Amino acid sequence: TSMVQFCKLVIFISSALSSYGRLNPNKFPDDFLFGIASASYQIEGAWNLSGKGENIWDRYTHTHPELILNRTNGDIACNSYHRYEEDVALIKKLGVQFYRFSLSWTRILPIGFSSKINPDGIRYYNNLINLLMKNDIIPIITIFHWDTPQHLEELGGFTNALMANWFEDYARVVFENFGDRVKVWITFNEPKEICLKGYGGDEKAPGYNLSGTADYICAHNLMKAHARAYHLYDKQFRSKQNGQISIVMDTFWMEPATNLTWDKKAAERRLAFIFGWYAHPVYSSNGDYPDVMKKYVARRSKREGFKRSRLPNFTKEEVNYIKGTYDFLGLNHYSTVLTKNVLFEPIFGKPSVEKDSMTVTEYDPSWPNSKASWLKVVPWGFTKLLVWLKNAYGNVPIYITENGFADDGEIDDKDRINYHKLYLSALLDAMHKYKVNVKAYTIWSFMDDFEWRDGYMTRFGLYHVDFNDPGRNRTPKASAEYYRKVIAARKIDG
Ligand code: NOJ
Repeated sequence: TSMVQFCKLVIFISSALSSYGRLNPNKFPDDFLFGIASASYQIEGAWNLSGKGENIWDRYTHTHPELILNRTNGDIACNSYHRYEEDVALIKKLGVQFYRFSLSWTRILPIGFSSKINPDGIRYYNNLINLLMKNDIIPIITIFHWDTPQHLEELGGFTNALMANWFEDYARVVFENFGDRVKVWITFNEPKEICLKGYGGDEKAPGYNLSGTADYICAHNLMKAHARAYHLYDKQFRSKQNGQISIVMDTFWMEPATNLTWDKKAAERRLAFIFGWYAHPVYSSNGDYPDVMKKYVARRSKREGFKRSRLPNFTKEEVNYIKGTYDFLGLNHYSTVLTKNVLFEPIFGKPSVEKDSMTVTEYDPSWPNSKASWLKVVPWGFTKLLVWLKNAYGNVPIYITENGFADDGEIDDKDRINYHKLYLSALLDAMHKYKVNVKAYTIWSFMDDFEWRDGYMTRFGLYHVDFNDPGRNRTPKASAEYYRKVIAARKIDG
């Protein structure tokens, strides 16, 4: 019997090990697209050259250098404004089908308004697009990746409802100039970060720091601006240019911290609120903000003495105008959090759930870390999120527009390779086991770049950038070769 027990133990241990380490062996379908991403302020540099106007990240980093790690900024960044030819060659080496990059609004329109177009800005992006096309790399353009013109910020930025006009005019300029070749457009990157951190907090430019009001106003105006650009494209450009346009949103997966009903509900509520804030108006069949959010903010506002909800109201026309303004669902996903309900804990008696109780998040200490405190390696959270999206919004085509891992910039970046192996496997699980309609995958980032408040010390690149070298020399990391192989084989080599 002891022999039998021993054998059972061996079988148990080996099956536990293999199921833990098992990677999904399936292939990505032939029409599945692989790409990499970047953003203008994070890589271009040339902040005041060739007619470019000032934006809010120029202003924020110049006036508050102490807020950025090592007092760095994007003045030079990766110098991609001058090195784009070499960049395209490096992208080509990866074998990706597309390159997602963003346009610098003030490089094209120096004061934000369409009254003055900077020909050098148009020329720069034309050269980049043409070179990509020549190399069979599809350009996917983010129209706005956080660098609002400073001039428009002084008029209130996203707290001004006229932002919808200004953005629509800017979008028209870019469709007119680049739309003959660009067939995939993203209006905004991560509205949640823009509004929560830039207007609700001061962690990002412009740093309003008015939580509970400015963040809601920002989101309200931003969603209208998005819908305006969508309808402009749909009505005036789509028939000639034949492309797609959508928006990119980001979220963690929210896993209940315990099996208790109140924590399960808290996790659901938090995802429905924080992600639904932006996603529900666009992707849900009813449109508008999620009910749980409308009710919650209304009750809290009343309790705080407001005469109306701090959450602005969409009219019926606006709900219908914003609803359905997508051709795909763009998702940036990196990691997972545990969600808990904040309990009311009396001195005597059992803790209970208060009405309108808040939720908090934390991390499981067993989850592997990265250089970024918010980024833990939790691949199954990716699968769960994709299944949740399918259940919430139907069979919409999903483009993973960012997924990536943060480290110190090692050339032999084993942890990054491991992260992508696990996340690609989780993605295949979602596609094969749960039939989630995912069409594209993007690694953030093409190369090490300016990681906002974290400066140049937290790195996501497949290419290493030497920021001490005036020319910003680039070197491929091990992960660049790994990604090249994945794309060539259309599967994860396990
Ligand atoms: C989200 C943003 O879109 C990008 O700008 C940022 O660098 C990465 N995630 C990593 O934090």
